[in-house]
Amino acid sequence: MINTIVLLPQGIAFEVQDGQTILEAALNNNIRFPHRCQVGACAACLCRKLEGTVSYHLEPMLTEKEQQQGWVFACQAYAESNLVLTFEE
Ligand code: FES
Repeated sequence: MINTIVLLPQGIAFEVQDGQTILEAALNNNIRFPHRCQVGACAACLCRKLEGTVSYHLEPMLTEKEQQQGWVFACQAYAESNLVLTFEE
């Protein structure tokens, strides 16, 4: 399955395949997505989900409040639907 991800505020759209993390898909599309460790440790790839559903193989270290606010570790997250993500607070 292929899902589409829209990144705000720029409004960049790209596709993510099954089994690909959001970060992998962005980098494959030559999108400059902030990242460093790619293993869920540095938090450089944190962004916030405005719409859609993500899943993880390993749940990241997010508090319940942070999850409610929609924070996503893009290097660990898989898209379960089309997503809208933002780098704005
Ligand atoms: S790139 Fe380090 S936590 Fe995602």
